[in-house]
Amino acid sequence: MGDGMEFKFKDQLSLGVASAATQIEGGDCGHNWNDWYAKGKIKDHSNPARATNHYHLWKQDADLMAEMKIKYYRLGIEWARICPKEGEVDEAAIAHYREELIYLKEKSISVLLTIHHFTNPMWFERKGAFTKKENLQYFLDFVELVVKSFGDLASEYITINEPNVYATLSYYFGEWPPGEKSISKTVTVMSNMAICHMKAYRLIHRMREKMGFHDTKVSFANHVRVFDPQNPKNVLHGICSKLLERLFQGAVTEAMATGNFKWPLKSTKEISRGEYLDFIAINYYTRTTVSGFGDGTKQDAPKNDLGWEIYPEGLVRCADKIYQLLERPIYITENGTCDNQDTFRCKYIYEHLKAIMESDLPITRYYHWCFCDNFEWVEGESARFGLVHVNYETQERTVKTSGQFYTRMIEEDGVTEELYREYVEPEEYHKG
Ligand code: BGC
Repeated sequence: MGDGMEFKFKDQLSLGVASAATQIEGGDCGHNWNDWYAKGKIKDHSNPARATNHYHLWKQDADLMAEMKIKYYRLGIEWARICPKEGEVDEAAIAHYREELIYLKEKSISVLLTIHHFTNPMWFERKGAFTKKENLQYFLDFVELVVKSFGDLASEYITINEPNVYATLSYYFGEWPPGEKSISKTVTVMSNMAICHMKAYRLIHRMREKMGFHDTKVSFANHVRVFDPQNPKNVLHGICSKLLERLFQGAVTEAMATGNFKWPLKSTKEISRGEYLDFIAINYYTRTTVSGFGDGTKQDAPKNDLGWEIYPEGLVRCADKIYQLLERPIYITENGTCDNQDTFRCKYIYEHLKAIMESDLPITRYYHWCFCDNFEWVEGESARFGLVHVNYETQERTVKTSGQFYTRMIEEDGVTEELYREYVEPEEYHKG
């Protein structure tokens, strides 16, 4: 091609896919999203009890993943299913997940296990969840149970997914359960989740070491976005973008990575300074354009179906910032887009991968969000992010064009000229 459109991964980067238990499993297991649905809070009224029925179709999904040549899978387990009541453990649920993990291993799919991905059992939620210090031990007990139950089958862990998104949507904007609007609780939740991560980090290492495994890797999934001033010459825009960056992600990232709790987080004596990441885990989607104290989107930029700006360079800018804090291998644990008709997903993936391949950072994994379309929290079933289309009525799975592109990239170990012309070139983003 000669115009620099193709690239090879050359053993530097492995492609995988990601999912989260609540978004795919289905079932009414007494968690805060079952409850949020019952309160009528899902925009399109779809029920997380349906989702993609993965709890029953997991084998078929694993087979499809293997057919698509996917070798890395980030998946979650549902706390409310494993511990339906305080102090109770459902052994059948543990056996179920063990069977799934063993099967994935047989298919040569290597797993990255997420322990907490937004969802709480109602018994924990009713106690105030992560707003109260005395509740943190419940989470740590769950972590211990997870390692005891699955420690022989998983060596890589995400303790907590996106503490900043969980804290702000649940306790600041009130859009997610429990629907509160309190700055002080938002900050408390972020601080407490940081403590949970660091304690879990040590616990997982300690336990697996005792089990005779020396290959443990632990991190938390960090939702990061670029915050840029709308007008770089405007002082207020500049100050607000720095402030929002710190409030939303900067402080919590630093606390969780190094134990250094800076404003607005609450300092704690419980945790000593140190290094609490074996790899940097980044979930990247978009950029916020700042002109005041709130969210904003750049005008005339390419956008996805939810109006999020598509800004591939931002992934590398964010990764670089965290790498300056702690030099670790970088996994992109989520990157993807809401494209209901699958008309620009190939282009989106291509441009983000290209940005990765052009950077000098040690980015070694890329997990696409997500494998199948799934229950997208308050957006319900109407926001599709998958490489595989799901017909929710019949639960039929159909690999999308972007899914085919993904497989072809894995087979070719990169993007060839032919792949570029076939999948990327014909696609266009929405502008506006
Ligand atoms: C979350 C996912 C979610 C995705 C797309 C991430 O913030 O971890 O659960 O589906 O974004 O909104």
